[in-house]
Amino acid sequence: ATKNLFLLPGDGIGPEAMGEVKKLIAAMNDQMSAGFVTDEGLVGGSAYDAHGQAISDADMEKALAADAVLFGAVGGPKWDGVPYEVRPEAGLLRLRKDLELFANLRPAICYPALAASSSLKQEVVEGLDILIVRELTGGVYFGEPKQIIDLGNGQKRGIDTQVYDTFEIERISGVAFELARTRANKVCSMEKNNVMKSGVLWKEVVAQTHKASYADVELTHMLADAGGMQLVRWPKQFDVIVTDNLFGDMLSDVAAMLTGSLGMLPSASLGAPDARTGKRKALYEPVHGSAPDIAGKGIANPIAMIASFAMCLRYSFNMVAEADRLEKAIAAVLDEGYRTGDIMSEGKTEIGTAAMGDAIIAK
Ligand code: NAI
Ligand code: MG
Repeated sequence: ATKNLFLLPGDGIGPEAMGEVKKLIAAMNDQMSAGFVTDEGLVGGSAYDAHGQAISDADMEKALAADAVLFGAVGGPKWDGVPYEVRPEAGLLRLRKDLELFANLRPAICYPALAASSSLKQEVVEGLDILIVRELTGGVYFGEPKQIIDLGNGQKRGIDTQVYDTFEIERISGVAFELARTRANKVCSMEKNNVMKSGVLWKEVVAQTHKASYADVELTHMLADAGGMQLVRWPKQFDVIVTDNLFGDMLSDVAAMLTGSLGMLPSASLGAPDARTGKRKALYEPVHGSAPDIAGKGIANPIAMIASFAMCLRYSFNMVAEADRLEKAIAAVLDEGYRTGDIMSEGKTEIGTAAMGDAIIAK
């Protein structure tokens, strides 16, 4: 069967990083008859420049029809002044909304070659492999009411509302349990049931979902603040962490920095399974932004984008062996001492974007 990929390179270093994935896809088609068919569109500032929108309706149609979307990065100082509705980020937000990408997967993996240069003690991060599953479409970022009220006495009140319904907690915890089964089979759910009603419901629904369908997976619960502490103190105690939108935003950034550079971090966002095909809508993107400070210089680290493609192989196409090989190839190139500037350290060999991509493909 053909595998339809829709590529949205975006702005800044997005197209540079995506270029390495394009070479990889071509190599997989040539050498392994992988059968990828790609199409490409515009998103972010480059889409705004072309037609005044952060993503066009035509490109949205293609994103909806594809088996998976690969996204680079959007934004940059050039578009600081554009109207709010068509700012570069609006393209990504529309993709998340229209594809109903409710589950954001953020792995924190420490490559052995980089453990020694982590800001944490080597024994804390060496061999680290955790996956944070963040709810992405609900919670306090979207709940109503959401407003600033003028109280009339020189005071104003800012209001955001945390709202979670049973079905939202069921589906995100279902994703976490399913993923745990392909890993170390452990899920830790984080909320604040001691001070939040939504936290009480979260814990209850996660426990019910576990009991009903995933009793074979080990489940623990932790208060989210304690979870943040434990993530830094001894992160290797975790396998999969499932949490809400706000806590997940913060905890995944903390976990990210356990492992080093932004240029190394992949992510995936998954939607509900399609009623007809059973396939989940999915978008894969590096965690980093468009890095305007280094764009166009050929020095960006393509590993976050390439590792995002490895997640695509694993989750959208069930190409588990190929995903493993690709991740091992990244580790092997790092083991040989090759580094882009952002992860460079003494005694290593500094190379650019294309050379890093070539080295990984060759492996
Ligand atoms: P950033 O992630 O673009 O860059 C932060 C720092 O990390 C910079 O010094 C950059 O050079 C470095 N860096 C990031 N990725 C790298 C890579 N692959 N290789 C080597 N170095 C890398 O975040 P920043 O500077 O806050 O934002 C820049 C622009 O990107 C803004 O317009 C922002 O809105 C946008 N942005 C877009 C995101 C997205 O498309 N999902 C996410 C975050 C920011
Ligand atoms: Mg964040």
